[in-house]
Amino acid sequence: MLESALPTPCYLIDQAKLKRNLTLLDQLRKRTGCKILYAQKAFSSYPFYSMMSRFLDGTASCSAYEAQLSHTFFHGEHHVFETAYLPDEINDLMNICDHITFNSPTQLQKYGMQAKANGVSVGLRVNPEFLSQQFSEFDPCAPHSRLGTVASQFPMHMKRLINGLHVHALYEQNADSLSDLIDAIVAKFGQLLPEMEWINLGGGHAITREGYDLDRLEQCIRRLQQDYGLTVYLEPGEAIVWEAGFFVTSVLDIVKNGAETAILDASAVCHASDITELQYSPPLIGADKPSVLPFSYRLGGRSCLPEDIFGEYSFDHPLEIGERLVFRDMAINTLTKARMYTGMPMPAVAVREMDGNCKVLRTFTYNDYRNRF
Ligand SMILES: Cc1ncc(COP(=O)(O)O)c(C=O)c1O
Repeated sequence: MLESALPTPCYLIDQAKLKRNLTLLDQLRKRTGCKILYAQKAFSSYPFYSMMSRFLDGTASCSAYEAQLSHTFFHGEHHVFETAYLPDEINDLMNICDHITFNSPTQLQKYGMQAKANGVSVGLRVNPEFLSQQFSEFDPCAPHSRLGTVASQFPMHMKRLINGLHVHALYEQNADSLSDLIDAIVAKFGQLLPEMEWINLGGGHAITREGYDLDRLEQCIRRLQQDYGLTVYLEPGEAIVWEAGFFVTSVLDIVKNGAETAILDASAVCHASDITELQYSPPLIGADKPSVLPFSYRLGGRSCLPEDIFGEYSFDHPLEIGERLVFRDMAINTLTKARMYTGMPMPAVAVREMDGNCKVLRTFTYNDYRNRF
């Protein structure tokens, strides 16, 4: 079907753009010998997993459900990290994951031997106390963070149990930050690196964005390979689905109260929560920042929540009821974070295939809402 025939609201995944990102990452791993895992939390739409498996080495899960999804639909390595494992999920994880990373010495002590005896490669997440992000409340290496073991707490007596170190410290960053991060890892954990088989450098690498310094990234990977003989893993989420999704909406009404607010048939709070929670401002096709073009509007969600605002944009024409508005870069953290608060229906999910043809993959009904309760 044509894009104009899709129901709204609708998440639309662009297969060509997904493939462009995957191809770039595939070339990187082939050039350097590093391994690239897919951090599923960004976008867990398993109908794409079989295709994605051809370009990547495996997945990184952060829960037993993600691990199960990966085990069922993704061909490759299956890595899992949880801040703390539930006693009744760890046995299953040992059967379906080839790499299990523990967050603390206590968790390592509790499950590490058993994991190893099951043939699992054991990791410990470490915190190099490297601060690099703009929002400190989201920084996994902020002071007193519960994520990862700091150098002073490293369980030296259990180091033989550990096959690899896992670090996650970056957020939408370029390779200069990665280079600084590696300096911090070497400063804190350098003496342990020759004894490890692998290092996982987490996510937050904006590899597929324009301007990303691929040469510097390759130098970083080679440094760890050559100086310490390590297998280097990267586990990006966002870089894999960067710009690979749209959110197609329609204008339902225009409310005039000093400012003009166009009410969309969707909800920012429920369907694109990074907008309201992380101040993300997605690009909107055909629109600009407020007051740049002659007609400025606030775009509001149709829920009853006062904070349900997509943002302010300007247009070269007055908006009309029924008009479609399409947000870009909306594969990341949309479907995975979507909720039905206040009974908001879930948007449909569709794909734009390689030939440009669009197909609806999934629609949701009242039963999906009712069954949660
Ligand atoms: C442990 C870990 N790995 C990988 C990622 C993926 O990060 P990104 O999507 O920014 O690449 C995250 C994101 O929160 C994470 O917590």
